[in-house]
Amino acid sequence: MLFLYLYLMKKSPIGIFDSGIGGLTIAHALKKKLPNENIIYFGDTEHLPYGEKSENAIQNFSKKITQFLLEKKCKTIIIACNSASSVASECVKEIAGNTPVFNVIHPVVDKVAGECSEYNIGIIGTKATIQSNIYKKEIKALCSSATVSSLATPLLAPMIEEGFINEDISHTIIANYLSNKQLVNIDHLILGCTHYPLIHQEIKDYYKGTVNVIDSANIVVEHIAKQLRNDDLLNDCKQTEHHFYVSNYTESFEKSAQFFFKEDLKLKEVKLWN
Ligand code: DGL
Repeated sequence: MLFLYLYLMKKSPIGIFDSGIGGLTIAHALKKKLPNENIIYFGDTEHLPYGEKSENAIQNFSKKITQFLLEKKCKTIIIACNSASSVASECVKEIAGNTPVFNVIHPVVDKVAGECSEYNIGIIGTKATIQSNIYKKEIKALCSSATVSSLATPLLAPMIEEGFINEDISHTIIANYLSNKQLVNIDHLILGCTHYPLIHQEIKDYYKGTVNVIDSANIVVEHIAKQLRNDDLLNDCKQTEHHFYVSNYTESFEKSAQFFFKEDLKLKEVKLWN
């Protein structure tokens, strides 16, 4: 009986959510690292961008999505959104009970604070993430000698969501933000929004090798894989199935999901708020 329970538990999907396509960067890195895992992804496109919403609104969206993922029998929940990780981690954990919850901030803070004590670290993210001050507080708590500065870059997530990547308009917006005086002396930059790995190269090009641009997706996925292995929750079965849900169907989401997941794609619209 216990054997059957453990077998079914390992086979259960990993639930991942974000406001839109940003969390696909985490889902994609997870698929590469743990190819046997089944994934259920929820993109809350109806409420995008989260970064402009109040704490209370982001918490309510996150709770509802977590309930949905738990109903789908997810064995773990990944909050693949910095804005929700900043302000809704605790309430997601409450709803999830015994189901493990991961956010995208703690693994990055642990890694960066462990390595960058002498460094001058910059963080870019949504207004919700930057206003929460979570990166600065947590890095400084672990490593008081690090210098940390941050800048809200609210146009970037909607720009990426609309597919403006590697174009004149994206170069201009990126250059405008990165030249801000808040970021002048940095030597490391944390991409504090899961949408930003999609413009990682453009950001790197802007700095021409003078700043180490930290892409969080692999750091987060390394941490999750290690934890699931320790908890004996990894799936041994090679046959996988991924499901993608959105609260409001958009073509750009479907294209991005297809780009990342190719043949596996099953996109469905679900109305959680009706
Ligand atoms: N990808 C998200 C984040 O990491 C949300 C962007 C948004 O919806 O504003 O913050």
